[in-house]
Amino acid sequence: MKIVYIMIVLLLAIQLIRPEKTNPPVDEALTLKAPDNVMKILKTSCYDCHSNETKWPWYSQIAPLSWNIIGHVNDGRDALNFSKWSEIDPKIKTKRLKRSIKTINNGMMPLSNYLMMHEAAQLSNEQKKTIIDWCNKELKKR
Ligand code: HEC
Repeated sequence: MKIVYIMIVLLLAIQLIRPEKTNPPVDEALTLKAPDNVMKILKTSCYDCHSNETKWPWYSQIAPLSWNIIGHVNDGRDALNFSKWSEIDPKIKTKRLKRSIKTINNGMMPLSNYLMMHEAAQLSNEQKKTIIDWCNKELKKR
């Protein structure tokens, strides 16, 4: 029994370690502007990790899960932040667009553990095509 108490105390204790969950302010002048159908998919499937408009789920309050989720959002924003789209260096943007095509095609994005909790974020083949076509169109502009 003692081990159970120790576990409970530990679980409570780690709740005190709370890395910051942020949603930095969004400057509309910098955000990505894409056709509505593209925006809708990106907002549902990518924005929780790749924008400053993260919808934090209730379980992101609970350590140690919270650490993992906050880490993914911070890393996701560092890699690609649609809220700061027009600030991204054109060369980097080209890279991210290409990587978006690749990671959607090989099923790396959205992250699989995210999809377990966000069924709606799962991309249908049609949605994949919509995003990939848009990426290709953007790439042609460069
Ligand atoms: C649950 C969070 C999450 C979701 C949802 C998500 N990503 Fe990511 N994404 C990440 C993380 C974390 C990284 C950084 C990975 C790394 O550094 O290895 C990343 C990296 C990327 C990169 C850069 C990869 C590279 O190798 O250059 C692209 C492009 C990307 N994501 C596109 C998308 C697109 C498009 C969607 C939606 C279809 C999406 N992601 C959804 C978390 C997410």
